Amino acid sequence: MPDSPTIPGLPPGMPDPEAIFQSWWPIIIALVGGFVYGLRLYFRGARCTSEAKLDGKVAIVTGGNGGIGQYIVEDFAKRGAKVYIAAKNEENADSVVKELRTKTKSEAIFLMKCDLTSKKSIESFVEAFKKKEENLHFLVNNAGVMMAPKNITEDGFEEHLQVNHMGHFYLTHLLFNTLKASVPSRVVNTTAPAYNLGKIDFEDLNFKNREYQASEAYAQSKLAVALFTKEFAKKYPFEDSGVAMTSAIPGVVRTKIHRHMPFQQNGFINLMFTPVLWYLMKHAEDGAQTTIFCCVADALTSVSGYLYKECLRVPYTDIAEGDELQEQMWNESLKLLKIKEFGKTD
Ligand SMILES: *[C@@H]1O[C@H](CO)[C@@H](O)[C@H](O)[C@H]1NC(C)=O
Ligand SMILES: *[C@@H]1O[C@H](CO)[C@@H](O)[C@H](O)[C@H]1NC(C)=O
Ligand SMILES: *[C@@H]1O[C@H](CO)[C@@H](O)[C@H](O)[C@H]1NC(C)=O
Repeated sequence: MPDSPTIPGLPPGMPDPEAIFQSWWPIIIALVGGFVYGLRLYFRGARCTSEAKLDGKVAIVTGGNGGIGQYIVEDFAKRGAKVYIAAKNEENADSVVKELRTKTKSEAIFLMKCDLTSKKSIESFVEAFKKKEENLHFLVNNAGVMMAPKNITEDGFEEHLQVNHMGHFYLTHLLFNTLKASVPSRVVNTTAPAYNLGKIDFEDLNFKNREYQASEAYAQSKLAVALFTKEFAKKYPFEDSGVAMTSAIPGVVRTKIHRHMPFQQNGFINLMFTPVLWYLMKHAEDGAQTTIFCCVADALTSVSGYLYKECLRVPYTDIAEGDELQEQMWNESLKLLKIKEFGKTD
């Protein structure tokens, strides 16, 4: 053992405290670094570890040309599925499809226009899809808007209500027969914890008479989705329909869906917050995990009507309970969308 230098005031042979600190700092840095990194992994959330293959399966992913949806498409294509992206705009279609095809080495990725703010557009999408495919195994209702300024769609719905709920309801309705012809098949809806703050105002679903609050409109639409998952599972249990349904909460993800949030309006604040948000929020790929899990996990094949978060089943809060509320929302959606019987298209 080399002699420690003797320090005045300390008994001979005692190591220099500064030297101790100097030899400790790598450990301290490692501990802090490990903690920061561990916390980051925690914020990234659970991962879907299923290795299930989807060869021969057909999937539709709404909003699959960006954000979380793009990673769902990528994952499905890598597993061998044929994937149709239902996209609001066809602007970047070619580049998105090309990029995804290169990344996944799969040619079976297609993009078709489907604007959920328009029943007409949804109808044309379904018509075009049915011309190409007789089966549909996975319908991923992923597209969404959040905190957008007030807008009434051409069908007369408030935009959050239509994109997040009514549009997907209509799409599911038009594709229900195809899903039933492809059992076991699954529908996965994306909802958000905000459903919990929602209140359905049946007198004024579209904010015609009450003051518009983007957060209320968002929460209402997400509650409608939660109610539907439950009502759907009641009306069409897997044992009869062969169609399983779940809702997934992706978590807090950095995507364009936050483009209407107040902090994104100010360039400087946005710049300041960017690193913090990077750290606290999930990457879109991580946000895709629970939805992918709800589609591919074998254990969920026949599971219907539940809510999943971080690849685990979580209970709904009381606000989404209540048979009457669920049925009332179902009835109201049929009425407003002018659907005579769910799933009956001719
Ligand atoms: C409102 O919706 C219409 C049709 O859905 C769209 O063309 C228009 O750009 C929207 N307006 C705003 C301000 O977002
Ligand atoms: C998904 O949401 C749509 C629209 O809210 C609804 O019609 C459908 O029943 C829901 N399905 C599932 C599985 O939650
Ligand atoms: C929903 O509609 C069905 C069929 O029209 C009806 O029997 C039921 O009472 C309605 N439920 C509610 C809660 O309005």
